[in-house]
Amino acid sequence: MPQYNGYFPLSRPRRMRRDAFSRRLMREHRLSADDLIQPVFVLEGRGRREPVPSMPGVERLSVDLLCREAEACAALGVPAMALFPVTPPEAKSDDAAEAYNPEGLAQRAVRALKDAVPDMGVITDVALDPFTTHGQDGLIDETGYVMNDETVEVLIQQAVSHAEAGADVVAPSDMMDGRIGAIREALEEGGHIHTRILAYSAKYASSYYGPFRDAVGSAANLGAGNKYTYQMDPANSDEALREVALDLEEGADMVMIKPGMPYLDIVRRIKDEFGAPTFVYQVSGEYAMLKAAAQNGWLDERACMLEALTSMKRAGADAILTYFARQAAEWIKDSG
Ligand code: PBG
Repeated sequence: MPQYNGYFPLSRPRRMRRDAFSRRLMREHRLSADDLIQPVFVLEGRGRREPVPSMPGVERLSVDLLCREAEACAALGVPAMALFPVTPPEAKSDDAAEAYNPEGLAQRAVRALKDAVPDMGVITDVALDPFTTHGQDGLIDETGYVMNDETVEVLIQQAVSHAEAGADVVAPSDMMDGRIGAIREALEEGGHIHTRILAYSAKYASSYYGPFRDAVGSAANLGAGNKYTYQMDPANSDEALREVALDLEEGADMVMIKPGMPYLDIVRRIKDEFGAPTFVYQVSGEYAMLKAAAQNGWLDERACMLEALTSMKRAGADAILTYFARQAAEWIKDSG
């Protein structure tokens, strides 16, 4: 028997951690398949799948395989998917006209997906970078500056074309000023009163987007360019609150913070300040880091991934857009 040393702690928090039953009872946050959004990179063609080298385990899928993926996600209880088209180089232009082509890849993918799995929530990306020859999210002037109001005009057309194709949620990820209000007005005028807007309100000019730009093929177009004149400075926090306030005022139904793990302080502030549906995007670079470490045997992939996603819930996120969505839903099911 250990000898009493003359001192008892006033409180013993370890009592509650001693056994699984009491750990379970006091657990504050739980990750569920309901929280997850599965992103997919969509390719032209049929029966095509292409691995993304910087995102091991992620594949670009043609529309028919996207529909199979949607069935698998639905069976696991994943409520929504976010589509990112991989635009063939010949469809890119300075004016990004392919963005609002009713027969464009994104629009066809939405129609096919809603047809195949009607209950799956379909989220589309509203931004011009997959469609511009220079890889910027908007139209540029002769100096290369991304023009705000001219870009918003194109974003409106893109968002309306997604709604017409049957998208449940349009998600402007471009960071132009005033685009949420403009898109909301155009949706209302077009009779799309049920189309939800998920605003990427606090989207940072992050270096963690690298693998995504490889996946959609915009990295080469962007070259040495950057997005500092419209995406937010990673050093800022109050600015994120101002952006969210504007987007909610302009008619956003949900707001997104992006990236995820390095920005959980922003998630918490936004959730506390506004109490609006608050989503977070665990971006491509976060995925790549976890995968790379796991592949080297340096981290336990399953444990670290579930810890990262649970941390996002704890920070206040209502839902998480993550390349791990399907895998996480499988693991949650197995452990539940
Ligand atoms: C572009 C867009 C980006 C991502 C989603 N939409 C990249 C960018 O802003 O350059 C990145 C997502 C990720 O890294 O997973 N509109």
